[in-house]
Amino acid sequence: MTVESVSSVIGIEGLPQLPRLPVIESLPWLAHRDGFMARMLELAERHRDAGAFAIHRPGRRVVFVGNVLLAADLFDDNTSEKVIDGPLVNIRDFAGDGLFTAHGHEANWHRAHRILSPGFSASSMERYFPAMTESLDALLAHWRAARAPVDVVGDMTRLTLDTISLAGFDYRFDSFARPTLHPFLQALARALQESIDALLRPAFAVPLFRGRRAKYASDIELMFSLVDQVIRERRQRPEDSWPRDFLSLMLSESDPKTGERLSDENIRYQILTFLIAGHETTAGLLAFTLHRIARDRSLHERLRREVDAQLDDGVPTMKQVLELDLVRRTLSEGLRLWPTVPAITRAPKEELVIGGRLRVPAGHPIGVLVHALHRDPAVWPEPDRFDPDRFLPEQSKKRPAAAYKPFGVGKRACTGRHFALIEASLCIAMLVREFDFEDPGPLRLSPTVSPKPRALALALRPRRR
Ligand code: HEM
Repeated sequence: MTVESVSSVIGIEGLPQLPRLPVIESLPWLAHRDGFMARMLELAERHRDAGAFAIHRPGRRVVFVGNVLLAADLFDDNTSEKVIDGPLVNIRDFAGDGLFTAHGHEANWHRAHRILSPGFSASSMERYFPAMTESLDALLAHWRAARAPVDVVGDMTRLTLDTISLAGFDYRFDSFARPTLHPFLQALARALQESIDALLRPAFAVPLFRGRRAKYASDIELMFSLVDQVIRERRQRPEDSWPRDFLSLMLSESDPKTGERLSDENIRYQILTFLIAGHETTAGLLAFTLHRIARDRSLHERLRREVDAQLDDGVPTMKQVLELDLVRRTLSEGLRLWPTVPAITRAPKEELVIGGRLRVPAGHPIGVLVHALHRDPAVWPEPDRFDPDRFLPEQSKKRPAAAYKPFGVGKRACTGRHFALIEASLCIAMLVREFDFEDPGPLRLSPTVSPKPRALALALRPRRR
């Protein structure tokens, strides 16, 4: 390294930062109509040249990175690791040491990872596929009967919750049989919101939020009691009648390395983790992608041509769904523009200089803004343009691997990504084949932890033949 390059390395204290006030620090500058994450993304755009910035919450500095060059050096599991920070710390109140929110050093992560990995194999996906088609049938029936514009986010949430709970736990929420979202979903949405809103409160203001905290506690109780009921019902059935799903793996398998079983408390956390991680993100992906398709008639036509050419009239097979190349690339582009896990947190194991210019102390958490990576103009030409052809093999191979991380990195990457992409491909294929959409107008974002379109009502018609 030359003297010049050494001198151009800065520490995190030298990053651009928001103004600070005594006690409440940068809090007044963190509010945004579309939520905390929208504000972070706005700051990432503003500090695009620096590639990183800092904010101060009461008692701590938080650093965010938003470009590919800096982020790439945080993606190597040998030198960096996932850390539980920000909203994940609070989400541990109900997801505990489940796979998503476990610290890397917790024995339960390693144990559950080894026990549950077979549940994500290609042959397991074949077993979940009937649950995907059954849940989708309920959505299709609901949309065929619709006499007014449909609530896309609500319906995608119903679909993905019903799918993961049926595939993973043989439990039926029957969400389309209800006029409003299931109480579990309402409790979950409020608890997730509280987990992010609580980050923006100084400690002295906590008593002012007594009502919110009481609701939070009762929402968590409601979620626990549903999960406990699912476990109880399974245990009441004779074991030789259990389906081969995630719940059976958790209840009957032991760790191939240590021979240990998962505790009842950890099983509860894992089920909640799967119900949360397994539906919110896929619902958002479907809603964003449908919004895009509804705005772009020629994309809709291209997708429909692919589906018509490759699928027969009835229920497709999983193999057929996996071969829908344009559908898959459209979803990949949807996840590029609107990654539904918009940030992941990594920390270097030892002091590390990232991107050749930013020195990060050992163990300091860095929020990687995946949304900003995915729009880094150094890697993505015309980053705001929706173009599924970016994911043609010849285009993909020109990009650094760090440029596209919707499913996280390394050993903590998403175990459910194949499940999500099969489920989402099936849904998009069936919807574009059967319905015409009216242009719903520009996208607005909702201020939720996992981003979603706001108030997306879609007017549909049966396809004109
Ligand atoms: C489009 C849909 C999805 C997206 C964008 C997504 C994204 C992610 C990301 C970014 C992570 C890593 C988070 C971090 O580093 O902090 C993750 C982890 C995880 N996801 Fe997903 N996910 C999706 C669907 C699913 C589904 C359907 C399931 C379950 C069937 C699932 C289960 C998990 C689990 C268990 C983890 C924790 C892995 C571990 O640390 O061992 N996800 N997901």
